Amino acid sequence: MKEIYFKMKKITIAIDGYSSTGKSTIAKQLAKSLEYIHIDTGAMYRAVTLFAIRNGFFGGTKDNPQALVKLLPTINLKFEYNDALGFSEMYLNGENVEDEIRSLLVSRNVSEVAAIEQVRYKLVEIQKEMGKEKGVVMDGRDIGTVVLPDAELKLFMTASAEKRATRRYKELLDKGEVVTFAEVLKNVQHRDYLDSNREFSPLKKAKDAIEFDNSDMGLNEQFERIQNFAKRVIERP
Ligand code: DC
Repeated sequence: MKEIYFKMKKITIAIDGYSSTGKSTIAKQLAKSLEYIHIDTGAMYRAVTLFAIRNGFFGGTKDNPQALVKLLPTINLKFEYNDALGFSEMYLNGENVEDEIRSLLVSRNVSEVAAIEQVRYKLVEIQKEMGKEKGVVMDGRDIGTVVLPDAELKLFMTASAEKRATRRYKELLDKGEVVTFAEVLKNVQHRDYLDSNREFSPLKKAKDAIEFDNSDMGLNEQFERIQNFAKRVIERP
């Protein structure tokens, strides 16, 4: 009976926090267990960054990322659910870019792109539209504060920079990237600074968000705790 109730009553869940805190992994798992849609908004900023790199904005011929704004109308972003993998993948102008957007090159430049007001405006509009229906788990930096301020459950994930860099370093090595731990740590710290200090929608805990430090927590424990938060909200009359 309870199971049926969980499936019937849908809520909106916003997961924000620092980079490499495992937000997307938890959001993905939570969405699967509740049969909700998962939207990884970081993937959208990454896809726009990949577009910018391919168009010569970073290390290329154009040195002013603001000029990217003119090309925004030519960028089409779409999530497509991959049945075999069990999650949605990011498509940039019809091309599956799920792997490429996770590269260190994109990670290095994404904060700069995410700080451009018009980029945020475009992506926030799309995200608000996608979050209109309940039954959504959306993760990012400004979901609880700007995109879905009425979300019934808001989480703010944190972990020490060293722990986050260790996780990210392992992921990158697994992918065959040539990188040192020091570089990854520097990138994590630099992104924290840029994400928290940008002018438009900086990374900030929403007043009504639950702060969740997972520095010393495995995935299973995190998932169990977060699933319980969700259950409590869903069960609330
Ligand atoms: O979650 P992530 O590391 O994939 O996000 C990539 C970058 O995008 C990150 O540096 C911050 C930015 N971002 C943002 O500004 N707002 C969001 N809602 C999601 C991500």
